Amino acid sequence: MIKIKNKYFEPYIEESEILQKVLLLAKNIERDYREKEPLLLSVLNGSFMFVSDLAKAISIPVEVSFIKISSYQATASTGEVKQLIGLDRPLHGRNVIIVEDIIDTGTSMAYILDLVREQDPESVEIASLLLKPASLKQQMQIKYVAFEIPDAFVVGYGLDFDGLGRNLNRIYQLKS
Ligand code: IMP
Ligand code: MG
Repeated sequence: MIKIKNKYFEPYIEESEILQKVLLLAKNIERDYREKEPLLLSVLNGSFMFVSDLAKAISIPVEVSFIKISSYQATASTGEVKQLIGLDRPLHGRNVIIVEDIIDTGTSMAYILDLVREQDPESVEIASLLLKPASLKQQMQIKYVAFEIPDAFVVGYGLDFDGLGRNLNRIYQLKS
């Protein structure tokens, strides 16, 4: 068990399990994007570890770029999304894979999807490390998901609690 600020978290998904799933996703992406030079559009800050391991496991040429938005305060979604670092690559005609740490209500992803689609890419898919199906409020197709999890708060492997915990190499769950 670990303590971050005043909250306790217990181990939930081991690093080896994460890397195994990430490797599988990478192989699927390789198979689906041969000759397509996909653009991995990583959503900061949460997906920095995921996109790093994912990109390293993909052996076809890919481009990596970043977008930064914010929507969360502590452990509850504010439902409001702010763009902090915008798109810097032209997406017209590109095969874009949006890379996220977690999809909860889907509000952030719906916002990013709109931004990306405005630029008329050839295709857009989503790769999310985690998905909380029970809290999803927006209709969207998520092609690549490593883990579906119940509606509990998690940290580690990129995910934070109030800015902390992103450096943890496994995923922890808030102790109830
Ligand atoms: P959504 O807009 O409600 O789907 O929230 C998505 C964003 O909220 C993610 O990109 C995360 O940054 C953050 N988030 C959602 N659930 C968690 C969690 O359990 N732990 C840490 N961050 C989370
Ligand atoms: Mg995020």
